[in-house]
Amino acid sequence: MTTSEQIHQCATSIREKLNDDIPDVAVILGSGLGDFVNAMNIEDQIPYDQISHFPKPGVSGHAGTLLKGTINGRSILCLQGRVHSYEGQEPKYMTTPLRALKLAGIKTLVITSAVGSLRESMPPGSLMMVTDHINMSGVSPLAGPNDDAFGVRFPDMTEAYPVANREILIEAAKAADITLHEGVFCMVRGPHFETPAEIRAFQILGADVVGMSMVPEVILANHCGLNVAAVAMVTNLGAGMTEGRLTHDETLSEGAKAAGNMAKLLGEFLPKV
Ligand code: HPA
Repeated sequence: MTTSEQIHQCATSIREKLNDDIPDVAVILGSGLGDFVNAMNIEDQIPYDQISHFPKPGVSGHAGTLLKGTINGRSILCLQGRVHSYEGQEPKYMTTPLRALKLAGIKTLVITSAVGSLRESMPPGSLMMVTDHINMSGVSPLAGPNDDAFGVRFPDMTEAYPVANREILIEAAKAADITLHEGVFCMVRGPHFETPAEIRAFQILGADVVGMSMVPEVILANHCGLNVAAVAMVTNLGAGMTEGRLTHDETLSEGAKAAGNMAKLLGEFLPKV
């Protein structure tokens, strides 16, 4: 079966499971964003393994469920759990689900991710609106033959995080009384955390946070014409910026603290986008 056939089957499967009633916004939730789900009024829950060709995540903190529901009256789809490049998947791992969502009727994709901060002024628990990225993963999810049905061979990334959405995010943060930082997301493939020398190098390059996801999704979404907004949730300072060592458990527990603010921010943002 070709990838294109898989994408169409995946889209059909999503439509069937949701009785053809597809919201026009989808949110990808990063590690530990259970609070956002608690704030949702959930109408439907579909485990990824019941959706044709949907990739299944394997990391704790990433459940693997497609949720449909509302938040502050706005109907949304929510991807609870995502697959990462560090799981050994091809960088194209998110191609099928994102293009299938586009075919199913999604217009806007809101992407969240847990990250390490490269700025002491942006400690664990902070939220950062992503304005641009640096892809240090060495790979593009668009490598290989281009499917012209979805987008052009050489897509532009000048405004990968559209200003119009950023303005709405800033308004939403004000309305929710939350500090929203802004900055550049540096993607590494992981799964190991960075060395202190890498953290210093990324600071010099102009990055503000570092994480192991988001960027392939942003590239794929821009390629197929989805409207993107992205918010990173700081779970730790980068390696070498503090005395301690980094652990995934810390990522989950600090993520849980920021999750309340993320839920508030998106609760204000989503009805406006
Ligand atoms: N580095 C990379 N990815 C991350 C980090 C980090 O420090 N924290 C959460 N995700």
